[in-house]
Amino acid sequence: MSDLSHLSVKSKFDPKDMIFRHLGPSGLKVSVLSLGGWLTYGGTQKGNIVKDCLECAWNHGINFFDTAEVYSNGQCEIEMGQALKELDWPREEYVLSTKIFFGTGRKEPNTRGLSRKHVVEGLKSSLTRLQQPYVDIVLAHRPDIGTPMKEIVEGFTQVIRNLNLAYYWGTSEWSAVQIMEATQIAEKYNLIAPIAEQPQYNAFHRQRFEVEYEPLYKQYQYGTTIWSPLASGLLTGKYNDGIPEDSRFATNKSTFESTVKSLQSDEGKAKIEKVRKLTSVAEKLGGNVTQLSLAWCIKNENVSTVILGATKTSQIDDNVKSLKLVEKLTPEIMEEIEKILDNTPTKPGAFGRER
Ligand SMILES: NC(=O)c1ccc[n+]([C@@H]2O[C@H](COP(=O)([O-])OP(=O)(O)OC[C@H]3O[C@@H](n4cnc5c(N)ncnc54)[C@H](OP(=O)(O)O)[C@@H]3O)[C@@H](O)[C@H]2O)c1
Repeated sequence: MSDLSHLSVKSKFDPKDMIFRHLGPSGLKVSVLSLGGWLTYGGTQKGNIVKDCLECAWNHGINFFDTAEVYSNGQCEIEMGQALKELDWPREEYVLSTKIFFGTGRKEPNTRGLSRKHVVEGLKSSLTRLQQPYVDIVLAHRPDIGTPMKEIVEGFTQVIRNLNLAYYWGTSEWSAVQIMEATQIAEKYNLIAPIAEQPQYNAFHRQRFEVEYEPLYKQYQYGTTIWSPLASGLLTGKYNDGIPEDSRFATNKSTFESTVKSLQSDEGKAKIEKVRKLTSVAEKLGGNVTQLSLAWCIKNENVSTVILGATKTSQIDDNVKSLKLVEKLTPEIMEEIEKILDNTPTKPGAFGRER
């Protein structure tokens, strides 16, 4: 009998202590911590360090990786794609997303936006850079108010249903109204509805996630892949006493010019003060403020996955320890954190009619 052993796929993934959540109403499961490449991979970090970071995340049980066409004008997809190729994990064992909208810095008007042309061509170009036949999820990186919503939903349906370039699609920084419009159009015309939003969410940025999107969680089980969970590093405490030379605020000066300036304002100083107070809470629980800030995000059941950013593997090692803190976030500790943050989003009145 001939040897057919080369046809069987050897599993390379060990989930360790990772938590997995369904991504929205879909059957897809993602690790509650994931890794993205904004500003880092293809930006400040290139070559082996990219592979090292992806491998480190994988070794902690992370199965979901995020990029976008616009990150470093396509270089992020190139670096992450090359790393994935060298790591050679079974394709079924990881989940990959990219995002279409901003293009890669070209001036021609049809190389950005959410026209059917750019959704299809943009994703094809992303896949070429990634050296992948498909992504699991393609996201509309922003709403496109210049393209009819029906065309947008048709474009994403086409890349999934007709072209097999993705399994699911999602949104990023869309309003709840836009997400509902897209979903209703999909239902009405037998098209494919988006399953998840990629919004900013962290202890300093809460309103939209906690209030505006609330009906989406209830009505559609809409998923979320949240970004900047550490407010670009502010919630690590690394900016408490100035800007370290090798930190994001220094290595990406123009992007963070106004953020750095705002740290001098009363509001900025109050944020640093809150980070100091959160540090005491974290230490009481046996962790650090980075881990507490991430655990606080994970604790929210409307978060499907927290996308980490990391320039070094040591940051990933540090951040994964947040999983251990989640169970220590008792109602009393959450209340203590809420008092420190002092930014509970205002919800519309229910007039005694809540269920
Ligand atoms: N859809 C969107 O519009 C959108 C927008 C932004 C991001 N995203 C996605 O979300 C991902 C995460 O966002 P983000 O990178 O802004 O997340 P973040 O967690 O808020 O910031 C990550 C940065 O903080 C620093 N850091 C992380 N862990 C640390 C630790 N343990 N100790 C000290 N410093 C630490 C590192 O920067 P330094 O080492 O350089 O200081 C790292 O690159 C992105 O990669 C991207 O995939 C999406």
